Amino acid sequence: MSKAYEMKRPAYDAVARTLHWLTVLLVAMQFVIGWTMPDVHKDTQPVNLIAWRLGAGATLVAVMTIRVIWRMTHWPTPDELRPLLSVVSRITHVLLYTALVLVPLLGWINASSRGWTVRLLGVVPYPELSEPGSAFGHEMGDVHSILTWVLFTLIGLHVVPALFHRFVLKDDVLQRMLPRAKPSRDQV
Ligand code: HEM
Repeated sequence: MSKAYEMKRPAYDAVARTLHWLTVLLVAMQFVIGWTMPDVHKDTQPVNLIAWRLGAGATLVAVMTIRVIWRMTHWPTPDELRPLLSVVSRITHVLLYTALVLVPLLGWINASSRGWTVRLLGVVPYPELSEPGSAFGHEMGDVHSILTWVLFTLIGLHVVPALFHRFVLKDDVLQRMLPRAKPSRDQV
């Protein structure tokens, strides 16, 4: 193939890219549902929007489990950022992964303490992670709410630079997470 038609390969494989955008969809759903659902009280039943929240949260736990395993066994090609930026980017990714595992897990613990069963896609039941009415489950619910805002901040610190690279610097960083990269400048 001549160099002019050679496409720069994305840094992340198809599974990693699918898991990334599936995570984005599920997290976006969680924020929208979280902001629109009714307040939760002692006798609230897990129906309607709350049922959707539990179903999406359970799916997020499953997706993140697969994602962490995939990431530890399939490394992306290294980025071409300056060393300091590359370290900052990697630290942000590690913090994002940590928040993405902890936030739904703590939500699940809190749901168990309310006597709610968390089900994958609303069908397959997950085990209970705390005793109904337990103080531990209640406290983990508080930590869950705080970490949600930490996750929201981390997403901002991740998305704004990604869009800055795409629309201001016009480099190939965003292409690393898209199906097929456009030819790099020296290839056209
Ligand atoms: C418009 C929204 C988003 C864009 C454009 C975007 C873009 C990207 C890009 C380009 C990368 C690869 C960076 C690199 O390796 O140089 C990446 C990685 C990553 N993104 Fe996003 N992202 C978005 C939203 C999100 C959201 C909402 C989350 C989390 C909720 C997220 C979590 C991650 C994580 C954890 C990685 C690291 C992947 C890894 O190294 O395994 N992203 N994203």
